[in-house]
Amino acid sequence: MTKSNIDGRLRIAVVIGSVRKPRLADSLAAWLECELTAIDWLDLDMIDLATVSLPMHEIQPGGAATSPIGDRLANADGFVFLTPEYNHSFPAPVKNVIDWHYTEWAYKPVAFVGYGSSGGIRAVEQLRTIFPELRATTVREAVLIPMAWEHLDADGRFVPPPGTAQALHATMNELRTWARALRPVRIPDLAGRR
Ligand SMILES: Cc1cc2nc3c(=O)[nH]c(=O)nc-3n(C[C@H](O)[C@H](O)[C@H](O)COP(=O)(O)O)c2cc1C
Repeated sequence: MTKSNIDGRLRIAVVIGSVRKPRLADSLAAWLECELTAIDWLDLDMIDLATVSLPMHEIQPGGAATSPIGDRLANADGFVFLTPEYNHSFPAPVKNVIDWHYTEWAYKPVAFVGYGSSGGIRAVEQLRTIFPELRATTVREAVLIPMAWEHLDADGRFVPPPGTAQALHATMNELRTWARALRPVRIPDLAGRR
């Protein structure tokens, strides 16, 4: 449970799913951070998986006992996954961070910003099948950015195509609705470890 009250601000964690060097995610994350920082009802935590050590051999059923980002995930009221599409799915580090944790996801909403040739739709739709196992719900609205690499300016900054900002705000509004609605049931005992 977070310290914020029922009418208070929400803590939203953005998980950056690509860890490649270089990566398009840098341009998209910078845009996303700028957009989300301007939203007055949320406090933002940008979690860059490229900067977090989550060795796959330490994965445990029900989540690891300690995690370098466990507190940050636990304190979040909701999540936004920024995910590219790799081979018609999401990148391995995204599954890794999901599997590393368990109670941290429970009774929280998860939204998606996908990108790829088809907007990352296959990555996003596959992620939707996973989160119910973690007792998390996914947000219907989503931001899907086809050919995102075609929308960079000369300095590599992402210049969103028409409709992208509107999709983001619709997604964030639904995330807020779910985050507030689920707050009363976000009781650690109910999300017990396996
Ligand atoms: C291993 C790999 C597989 C990919 N497969 C797909 C794919 O199936 N569908 C798609 O739309 N894009 C695919 N792409 C293109 C990525 O969506 C694109 O390169 C994107 O910019 C990657 O994001 P990143 O640079 O932030 O890692 C693939 C890229 C990589 C590296």
